[in-house]
Amino acid sequence: MNRKLLIDKVGIEGIRFYDAYRKNGGYVAVEKAFKMSPADIVEEVKKSGLRGRGGAGFPTGMKWGFLAKPEGVPRYLVCNADESEPGTFKDRYLMEFLPHLLIEGLVISSYAIGSNRTYIYIRGEFKWIIDILEEAIAEAKNNGWLGKNILGSGFDCEIYVHTGAGAYICGEETALLESMEGKRGLPRIKPPFPAVKGLWGCPTVVNNVETLAAVVPIINLGGVEYAKIGIGKSTGTKLISACGNINKPGVYENGMDISVEEFIFSDEYCGGIPNGKRLKACIPGGSSVPILPANLLLKTAKGETRMMTYESLADGGFATGSMMGSGGFIVLDEDQCVVRHTYTLVRFYRHESCGQCSPCREGTGWMEKILHNIEYGKGKMSDIDLLWDVQSKIEGNTICPLGDAAAWPVAAAIRHFRDEFEWHVLNPEEAQERNFGLAHYADPIEVAVA
Ligand SMILES: Cc1cc2nc3c(=O)[nH]c(=O)nc-3n(C[C@H](O)[C@H](O)[C@H](O)COP(=O)(O)O)c2cc1C
Ligand code: SF4
Repeated sequence: MNRKLLIDKVGIEGIRFYDAYRKNGGYVAVEKAFKMSPADIVEEVKKSGLRGRGGAGFPTGMKWGFLAKPEGVPRYLVCNADESEPGTFKDRYLMEFLPHLLIEGLVISSYAIGSNRTYIYIRGEFKWIIDILEEAIAEAKNNGWLGKNILGSGFDCEIYVHTGAGAYICGEETALLESMEGKRGLPRIKPPFPAVKGLWGCPTVVNNVETLAAVVPIINLGGVEYAKIGIGKSTGTKLISACGNINKPGVYENGMDISVEEFIFSDEYCGGIPNGKRLKACIPGGSSVPILPANLLLKTAKGETRMMTYESLADGGFATGSMMGSGGFIVLDEDQCVVRHTYTLVRFYRHESCGQCSPCREGTGWMEKILHNIEYGKGKMSDIDLLWDVQSKIEGNTICPLGDAAAWPVAAAIRHFRDEFEWHVLNPEEAQERNFGLAHYADPIEVAVA
């Protein structure tokens, strides 16, 4: 079974453009889909077991099934192309090299849920990709795959690219919808969920780029065949963007039925750790998911081989496991400082907090200050417990999951690397000296934490 269903065609000359894409089997899935009913397509997606590739891993067919269908009210499909999670760079790869694959997936998905106006929400920093998408949409329209009465089906569909101003929070689906409506990107309280009240108050499906692209091989193969790839509830193929201390950073597609060890060390994927260094830890699913030390990364706490599946990466819960998240796989070698790393992440979350909820707005600020002090040799032992306390008050107490995303990395860093935090407290001069050359990267904050 081919385990490269999405990016196998990258490298074919001209594949970014319509002619080459069509010559290489492009839009065949649309032809097949228009011979099916929308309900049958939803059923195929359910059978495929496809789970959302944006982070939460929610079953896509089930999400489509929840869509409210009141008479006379438009429904919308919004493709989430914000890709704001640090360490994640798979969607931009897909859009840059295979824009027609995404458009093909959007046409089929729009037909399945009845969206006549479909949007790609993308951050403004991706200017070059926005241009690529606009060109591909024009090509698709000129060749009859978009517009009125597509393939004589009676179904009309237009795709619009909507540019955001580049804020992490606008990747959260309800903040994204607010942004599309021309407002500040502030997450909405759920319920109501977008499937009931989404864009301009209408039923809306928000899906990730990779999720929607995966609909193409699902229709081509059939849901049942697609589900045969992978293990358990981790069906189909998954794009992983790998970075950090590895020999071959890049975007890889795999069937999820490979071990983490194979993914990191085999030449087919990351190619091992450079300069003969040892593996220290890994954040397997983008910056928001818990960091795992090497001993829990390659084997679970039960001693089983850790696989690249949703289930195996989460095995052990947050005590000894992590998450697939958005597939942003960040590898740390033995030279990396977990305290510094956690501080960098928390600075990001503090900066990106929209400020609506006190635990997130205040908590991220406090965590940043405490971590700054520990990292720069001004911390006390009690600060480690204080940090633990602050993160625990954020988790589960906010409108959107950004608060959790800020708390989880801190909790995991303390849980697995408490000795490094203590080292910084016990060795303030060395901690400061070691950071001397990096000091210009830090905010000049000097805060005494009582
Ligand atoms: C702070 C935050 C940022 C997010 N950023 C993204 C993003 O950049 N891209 C994405 O697809 N989903 C992102 N999500 C998840 C979306 O809210 C939503 O779950 C996803 O787009 C649904 O698509 P899926 O079911 O295909 O995964 C983010 C969530 C949060 C809380
Ligand atoms: S958790 Fe943070 S980002 Fe999310 S709504 Fe609350 S303040 Fe805003």
